[in-house]
Amino acid sequence: MIKVCPSLLNVDESRFLDIFNILHSHPCFSRVHLDVMDGKYVLNTSFCSSTLKYIKELTNKDVDVHLMTYDLIKHINDYCKYNPSSIIIHKDAIENNKLEDLISLIKSKKVRVGLAIKPSEDIEEYKEYLKDIDIVLVMSVEPGKGGQEFIEESIFKIGYLDKLRSQNDYKYSIMVDGGINELIALDCIDEGADYFVVGSYLFKNDLDNTLKKFD
Ligand code: DX5
Ligand code: ZN
Repeated sequence: MIKVCPSLLNVDESRFLDIFNILHSHPCFSRVHLDVMDGKYVLNTSFCSSTLKYIKELTNKDVDVHLMTYDLIKHINDYCKYNPSSIIIHKDAIENNKLEDLISLIKSKKVRVGLAIKPSEDIEEYKEYLKDIDIVLVMSVEPGKGGQEFIEESIFKIGYLDKLRSQNDYKYSIMVDGGINELIALDCIDEGADYFVVGSYLFKNDLDNTLKKFD
C-alpha cells in the first residue's frame, strides 16, 4: 500500500464532503495535505485557515499545512488555532525571521515541523536543521500550482535524505510533493520515501478508481 496525502489545492470546498466519504473508504488515505498560497511567495492564492477548521470536522486524519506564503509568523499563529498535525514551511520565505525561531514557534504550539525543499535547493542548506524536524517535504515540482510533471532528479534527494536519516538516527518522515502517480511513488519508495502528496492525478480522474491503484 502507498501512503497517500491528497492535496486539495484544486478542489472546490463544496465537494469536500463527498470527497472525504470516498477517501475514508481507502486504506491508502493516510494524511491530508493543505496547500496554502498567498499570491506573493507563489503567484496563486488558495484556502484560508477556516478551510482547515472545516477539514478537521470531516476527518480524523492528520492534516499537514504546506505554507507557500510569506508573513510566516501570522500564518503559523493563524493555522495553529485549528490543530494541524504539522506546519511545513519554506526556508526562502522566512524574510527577517530566523528559521530556528520559526521551528521553535511551531513546536511551542505542539505542532510538528516540516521543511519543504524546492527542486532548485540543495539538501546541504538544510543539514543543520534535519535533527529538529518531523517532515522533509521533497518538492518534486516547483511550488505554486498542481498538475506539473514530476522532476526526475527528486529521486536522488530522497535517497540522500534516507541515507542521512539512517546514518544519524534522525526521525523525520520523507514526503514527496508534486506530479505523483502510483508508478512514480513505487520508485520513490525504493529510495526511502514514506508519504506521497497527490493532487491532480487523483482529482482529474475518477477518485475512487485512482485511489485503488495506491491501496
Ligand atoms: C504545489 C503543491 C503540491 C501540488 C500537488 O505547489 O505544493 O501539493 O498541489 O499537486 P499535483 O499532484 O497535481 O502535482
Ligand atoms: Zn504542497
